Amino acid sequence: QVKRDLEGVSLLVTAGATREPIDPVRYMTNRSTGKMGYAIAEAAATRGASVTLISGTNRLPVPPGVTFVPVQSALEMYEAVMERLPEQDVIVKAAAVADYRPKEVYDQKLKKRDGILTVEFVRNPDIAFEVGKRKRPGQILVGFAAETEHIEEYARNKLLKKNADMIVANDVSQADAGFAVDTNRVIFVFRDSPTKRLPLLSKLEVAHAIIDEIVRLRAERK
Ligand code: PMT
Repeated sequence: QVKRDLEGVSLLVTAGATREPIDPVRYMTNRSTGKMGYAIAEAAATRGASVTLISGTNRLPVPPGVTFVPVQSALEMYEAVMERLPEQDVIVKAAAVADYRPKEVYDQKLKKRDGILTVEFVRNPDIAFEVGKRKRPGQILVGFAAETEHIEEYARNKLLKKNADMIVANDVSQADAGFAVDTNRVIFVFRDSPTKRLPLLSKLEVAHAIIDEIVRLRAERK
């Protein structure tokens, strides 16, 4: 029997990879499939939350009862998140947002030529950072950290820099964790409570564990 402990709570979760166009036929993206973020949407919905899922270009089934907002680029994801931010109680940033986008998007397909092709990139907005800046008292921001080394240290830096309440850090260099697989091995880093290390779990189990912490953080605020 699943607890309905997010009844009356609005939760926004981002998932999947953004797609940064280069020309009409090419884009830059990353290895995120959306599995982690969709699992959070599913778990939150079964626990009674009113869930908005803002997703990059993935082909996973949308969990029942979830409001689905598909986006392509990081700029589109930024707009979609900011538009819906005021009414949210909890924001979970599981998406793998491209840090850079091509400076120029060509109207026509780039033609082959001799020599090296150089594409210049410019920084995308950091959505989690902007959410952390605008966060009002009572809103909870959960960020992710995809790391390959110094996991806890880098996760703590992200917690502080992005003004998050919790970071879910995963070691994306492990074969059974991080991108694309159905399992994950995460650590939770908080502002005031000790770090928690979870064993290898399914992404749905990780999602429920994240929600347990969200419920605890919300109760502590009251
Ligand atoms: O989708 P799956 O295949 O299931 O894979 C899951 C996952 C590995 C993608 C997921 O578990 C994960 O780690 N997501 C975060 C990936 C990431 O972009 O991490 P980061 O350390 O680069 O970013 C830190 C945080 O800032 C993240 O919450 C990210 O959403 C956010 N961010 C980053 C850059 C940016 N421009 N805007 C952001 O909001």
